[in-house]
Formats: sequence, structure tokens, C-alpha cells
Amino acid sequence: MLGVNIDHVATVRQARRGDDPDPVRAAHEAELGGAGCITVHLREDRRHIQDHDVERLRGFVRVKLNLEMAATDEMVAIARKRRVSMVTLVPEGRMEVTTEGGLDVAGELERMKRVVGALAGDGITVSAFIDARAEQVDAAARAGFHACEIHTGPYAAAFVTAGGDFRHATLAGELEAVASSGNRARAAGMRFNAGHALNYHNVAPVAALTGISELHIGHAIVSRAVWVGLREAVREMRRLIG
Ligand code: PXP
Repeated sequence: MLGVNIDHVATVRQARRGDDPDPVRAAHEAELGGAGCITVHLREDRRHIQDHDVERLRGFVRVKLNLEMAATDEMVAIARKRRVSMVTLVPEGRMEVTTEGGLDVAGELERMKRVVGALAGDGITVSAFIDARAEQVDAAARAGFHACEIHTGPYAAAFVTAGGDFRHATLAGELEAVASSGNRARAAGMRFNAGHALNYHNVAPVAALTGISELHIGHAIVSRAVWVGLREAVREMRRLIG
């Protein structure tokens, strides 16, 4: 299943602090293109998605609405109030351009247990965005997460370095790390999702991994939409995922 992150539609809107382009309209187009999930990241600094976007999307989105957020009290309260379908917990740094690494679930286990418990108690599916490391997968299971989204950033970087040639040991190794973390998550009863820096060139090998449930993709799709429109950009990605 393809989850489409529409943050960067809001990035363009915020460039002029106006109404266009509207993330609600973007969600509609993405749904028509075949998205099974719409994702927005409500950042602490509100650099793109705003609180009112989450409120409006909650009313309009017909597929799953996934709120990416930091594990703060403020964000937990918003997710519960808006009754989103799913939350993906991510680490958040003020200076970062985009999410830079996975959540340290192992290092913050007790806090994660509390946050996951509060969200899950309201019927929200909770996913941990983590690096492809066994100790983080195991900690996610202990914290009660329903799913792990395995960070594909290192795989994507290796793909560029290797020119997409899987005979390159680093690239093959990064894909294998995603695969084995996904298998470990599934063996522990969690869903195996993946995302970050996936694009039209590197997505197919990840989409083909055994047991993968969801791919979460944003920047590549919104960039492609500038040329072909969002509905078509989502359709093209859907075709590659198969
Ligand atoms: N998954 C998570 C947890 C993310 O933080 C992001 C970026 O917002 C994405 C997926 C999408 O990454 P990209 O925009 O590189 O496709």
C-alpha cells in the first residue's frame, strides 16, 4: 500500500502564507491516484502543515490518515483530539531539513510505552520510524507499537553511490538490513512499513521485499507532480510498486 506524504504541498503554500495549494485538495488527488494512506507531519515549528490542515483533512480524507509527529504531550493531545487513524512517531530536530534518523525507542523505552499506550487506547494504530537495527525493532515490540517503519534513507543513499547496481556490496547490504529488520518486526507481531528518500528509481526492490505492508513516500511524488499532476504522479508510483 502506498502512503503519500503531502507536507510539501503545504511547503509551497507557506511560501506565500496563503491558501494555495491546498493540502486537502492534494489529499483528494492522491486518493484518486490510488493512495491508500495520506500522511502529514505536524512539526513543532509548523513549517508546512498547520493545525487547521489536520482538522480539515480529518473530515475529508477517505483512506487512512497518518499523522507523523514527535512524541510530545502537545502532539499526543492533537492526535487524540483529531482521532487520526494512525500515528507515526518520529524524532524531530528544529534545524533539520527533513527527518534525519530513526527514533531511539530503545533509549526512551518507558516514555515510548506511555505514549503508545495513550494513543493505542484511543484506537489509533501507532508506528515507530526506526533505523534498520535489531535492538530498535525489539524495543518497538516491547513498547507496544503496532508497526515499524524502517528508515530507507541509508538504502537510498547507497543506491545513488552504486548507480543502482546491486552487485555493489554496500547497496545490497542496506537493502538486506531493511529486509531483515522488517522480518524481525513481523516475527514480533508488528507490521513492516518502510519509507524515506524512496523515489521512482529506487522503490521497486523495497516494494518487492517479503511481507512489506506500506511504503511512505513524499518528496519524490510531490516533485513529480509539478510535471504531471499529483494524481498521475501517484499512479506512476503505484505502478512501480506493483
Ligand atoms: N517517512 C517518514 C517517517 C518521514 O519522516 C518522511 C519525511 O517526512 C517520509 C517517510 C517521506 O520521506 P520522503 O519525503 O523522502 O519521501
